[in-house]
Amino acid sequence: MITWPPDPRRPLEERAVSLAPLHAQTVAMIGYGTMGRAHALNLRDSGIAVIVGLREGSPRREVAARAGLEVRTVAAATAASDVVMLMLPDEAMATVFAAEVGPHLGAGAMLGFAHGFAVAFDQIDPGDRGCFLVAPKSQGDMLRSAYEAGGGAPGLLAVTPESPPETWPLCAAYARAVGCLRGGGWPTTFREECVSDQFGEQAVLCGGVIELLQAAFDTLTDRGYDATNAYFECVHELELITDLVHRYGVDGMRARISPTAAYGGLTRGPRLIDGTVRARMAEILDEIEDGRFAREFLASHEDRDRGRAALSARESSSRLAGTGRELQARLNDLVRHRPSTRSEETRDE
Ligand SMILES: NC(=O)c1ccc[n+]([C@@H]2O[C@H](COP(=O)([O-])OP(=O)(O)OC[C@H]3O[C@@H](n4cnc5c(N)ncnc54)[C@H](OP(=O)(O)O)[C@@H]3O)[C@@H](O)[C@H]2O)c1
Repeated sequence: MITWPPDPRRPLEERAVSLAPLHAQTVAMIGYGTMGRAHALNLRDSGIAVIVGLREGSPRREVAARAGLEVRTVAAATAASDVVMLMLPDEAMATVFAAEVGPHLGAGAMLGFAHGFAVAFDQIDPGDRGCFLVAPKSQGDMLRSAYEAGGGAPGLLAVTPESPPETWPLCAAYARAVGCLRGGGWPTTFREECVSDQFGEQAVLCGGVIELLQAAFDTLTDRGYDATNAYFECVHELELITDLVHRYGVDGMRARISPTAAYGGLTRGPRLIDGTVRARMAEILDEIEDGRFAREFLASHEDRDRGRAALSARESSSRLAGTGRELQARLNDLVRHRPSTRSEETRDE
């Protein structure tokens, strides 16, 4: 028996959470991108009524209709629903909410999000309306295919402090219906989810790791080493290591690689990611926490998009990207036929 709000130190488990708060409710899925689609289909398959809200002319209207979902305009879907999920890009949230969602929300309707940005960085003020977050720690298509296979993804769950008491049970029911309690649903706050998500993207996943690959590849090739060779060693094999870390943790990964690789990594890694790198990570975290990153991102779509296009073009024209393109067909074929690191598991047992 769960008491609400849930204990923040313990994940919510699927078997302990009832779907009942969502029965007799209609959910509007505003936006049908990767995550909107996964949530809409998983909810539908969990027996929950869903209407997709999309702007006129959206190419995704036909896609959602073909999946058997009812599609209306954003305003009409909002007006007809008890729970309104805003599944839009961060930069579109405030405008779409002000023009097409806010004016049509029913008195007791709740607002839901899959990412904390809009609420944490004041793009939308839910006031004392029920407002919750179910942030799957997965990419949307992967959440959908995992759900279809009987699995799911871990999820971060939050409710704004001003929400009425019925919001937590509904949030948990929603998380269960989309498959986010199968990997455990961890209570958090909008701000914590958003700050840590952006930091992880910038410092590691989409920033730090990619620059590390570039720098290592350039170091070898600048010294005359063959580009294909450098690509295999510095880029291609990353998946093997992340797969082992995913499966066994960092120490478990070390136990499964060669002694030379383990010793080299343990002694050289900290020399590379030293105090100066950690200090710059802290600066990046400061910029996220105090809202500088959010302001920069939202300030000017035109400037931001121009800057991003230039950076993307530079990345695409890099020697690393070119080498990757040359090898991609061959490597993708290998990935399809690789038995993943299960062979490692078998060897250990
Ligand atoms: N993608 C992921 O795997 C992932 C992972 C974790 C969390 N999330 C979170 O999930 C939420 C949804 O992300 P997403 O990737 O599925 O979608 P998205 O790519 O961010 O958004 C796509 C949807 O937003 C609609 N949209 C964009 N601008 C609009 C506007 N001005 N007016 C009306 N509709 C507009 C698009 O409409 P059209 O069809 O008309 O273009 C489309 O249906 C976000 O909060 C995201 O942070 C996503």
